[in-house]
Amino acid sequence: MNKEEKYAALLPQVKALCEGESDLIAKMANVSALLHHEFGFWWTGFYRVLNSELLLGPFQGPIACVRIAYGRGVCGTAWKERRTVVVPDVEAFPGHIACSSESRSEIVVPVFKGEEIIAVLDIDSRELNTFDDTDARWLEEIVKLIP
Ligand code: SME
Repeated sequence: MNKEEKYAALLPQVKALCEGESDLIAKMANVSALLHHEFGFWWTGFYRVLNSELLLGPFQGPIACVRIAYGRGVCGTAWKERRTVVVPDVEAFPGHIACSSESRSEIVVPVFKGEEIIAVLDIDSRELNTFDDTDARWLEEIVKLIP
């Protein structure tokens, strides 16, 4: 299966996992597990917007930094600029926060509830250039199912 086919198969699973469940943390936990194991990413998880900063939420992978300020790192940038940020090479991203030295490329997708950003989905890969527009497009659809 190529990436497109994998995401297409995942979307209904995410729908089934989220439908009828009101607890955000439970949904984030299952969505991060599903994505992480399907694609074999290095780190897959959520940071929630809480008290004007990003706070580590449900994730799969090694331990990570707990709090990220507005505008800081890839996560804080996606939150501030209200858009998906694709980073082909983390070393080339000014201000990248290295939670793990293994991480080489990254994508961060804001989770919108109406106009408000309530969280970001952050995925890290151990290879360069893992993420592109296909990931951005599908992950944006997937996170719409969370709030
Ligand atoms: N690299 C992220 C920090 C979070 S960890 O990758 C899990 C960033 O620059 O915002």
